[in-house]
Formats: sequence, structure tokens, C-alpha cells
Amino acid sequence: MSATVIDGKAAAARVRERVAGGVAAFRARHGRPPGLVGIQVGDDPASEIYQRNKQKQAEDVGMAARRLKLPGETTQGELDALIDELNADPAVDGMLVQLPVPGQIAEPLIAARIHPDKDVDGFSPVNVGRLVRGEPGLVPCTPSGVMWLIREAGVALEGARAVVVGRSLIVGKPMALLLLAENATVTVAHSRTRDLAAVCREADVLVVAVGRAEMVRGDWVKPGACVIDVGMNRRDDGRLCGDVHYAEAAEVAGSITPVPGGVGPMTIAYLLANTLLAAERREGDEPTGGIV
Ligand code: GUN
Repeated sequence: MSATVIDGKAAAARVRERVAGGVAAFRARHGRPPGLVGIQVGDDPASEIYQRNKQKQAEDVGMAARRLKLPGETTQGELDALIDELNADPAVDGMLVQLPVPGQIAEPLIAARIHPDKDVDGFSPVNVGRLVRGEPGLVPCTPSGVMWLIREAGVALEGARAVVVGRSLIVGKPMALLLLAENATVTVAHSRTRDLAAVCREADVLVVAVGRAEMVRGDWVKPGACVIDVGMNRRDDGRLCGDVHYAEAAEVAGSITPVPGGVGPMTIAYLLANTLLAAERREGDEPTGGIV
């Protein structure tokens, strides 16, 4: 068998197109664009690229996007003061602090400081709680993007066995909750799981987010399964690869995301979707349909 390749680049373009339509309608109603602010502390080169891409894509869909870059020595107090200012700024609908942050800054304090209704990363304790409770909130971008890919691939989740490998706050945990909300039977596996290969082989939907190059081999995949690879690693030969051995898994799976060009492009697309949703909620609008 050879799997259907799930094209995340094309899917992300479809999400952005819907967001752009929602942004145009929002601007027409309110005479202002949705506003997104990205904060970077220090000059981590990967963060620099992410921040630039986020700003460009936000502008491309018609949003007002600002990048604020703070020195690497910024204190928690200074960052808190900036977050408070943006929380109070009516033109700002969404904000995020790019991770990682330098050691003197505590990520949990950032997550708790950003107003939950402007928390477009979905990392705040309030939004985590809303997701657990099944209440409307803002959901982390990568897992939301994965749900879109699974839906477009036509995979039925009701009663299906889903295995999420990885338990991070950004991907693994919210991913499990979203799959559970669609009535999948969800297992969260991780580095301490016994016989991980056997657990993965049970999965109708296998989502892997562990950050270990090509860890999941072809014989870990159930024939016909939907395989979603959230990993982005660099192999010794310099090539990018995921957490799944793509060539092997594609022989067995029913559908599979490539790396690059699978899950990756969905993350920023959903940051834009969350920003539009946050803006619409703040204005009391009906949310643009068909995205989240
Ligand atoms: N660094 C890596 N991924 C992310 C993300 O989704 N959000 C933020 N703020 N920083 C990140």
C-alpha cells in the first residue's frame, strides 16, 4: 500500500483564505483590522524567523501585525509591564511571546499574565482549563491545525483508536483533548511508555510529537492508519525529517503528513485563525465559520 500524502502547505493556504475573508468582513464592520503583537526576548535565530513569518502572514491576510523585540537581559518585571500594556490596548486582539525565552523569564508567568481572551497561543491556564472542560476558548495552534488535516483527510474519529506520542503542553496534551472531544479513544504515550511500538500499532490515528528523528518505524504503523508527524528534526546528513520514518510508514499508512510540508505550515495559519476569532469575540461578532 502507498499512503495518500496530506499536503499541509495547500491546507494552510485554504485556512488563510478563509481567515482573509473573515478579516475583510471584520474590517468592514469595525473600521479596523484585527491586531496581533508578537514579542521576542533576545535574538534566538529560529525565533527571529518564526516571528518574521508570523508578521508577514498576518499582514498578508489583512491584519495589523506588530513585532516587538526586547533585549536578552529584559527582566520579568519589564516583560510583565509590556504584557499589561498590551492587555489594556483596545487595538490588540492577540499577543504571544515567542518561546524559548531567556532563563530569567518564567514561561508559566507569561502564560498566566496574558489576558486569556488575547492568548492566541492558547497556553494560559484559563484556556487550558477551558479546553479540558470543553468550553469555548483559544486552543493551541499546532493541534488545531492537525485536527483540520485529519478532517480533510476524511478520517472518522468517532470511536477510533487515537494514539498521541508526546505529552507537551503545546502539542501532546491539547492534541489528546481535541481528539477526545471528537469521541476518539485516546492514548497518550511518551518516552517512558512500555512497548511503544505495540501501542502505536493499535492506532487508527497516530500523532507523533516527540522531537526524535525518524523514531517511529514502518512496523509501528497499523495498515491503513492516518499518520500525523509533528516532528521537525535535522538528520546527520543535514536533511530535515520528522519523528516518523516517512518512507517506511508511507508503505503501510492510509494517509500521512510529510516533513517538511505537513503539519508545519498549519501552525501559523491557526495563529491567524485564533487572532481573527479573538477579535470577533472581543467585538461580540458571530465567528467566521468553518475554521476552528
Ligand atoms: N516556539 C515554538 N513553538 C511556539 C509556539 O507555538 N508559540 C510560541 N509562542 N513560541 C513557540
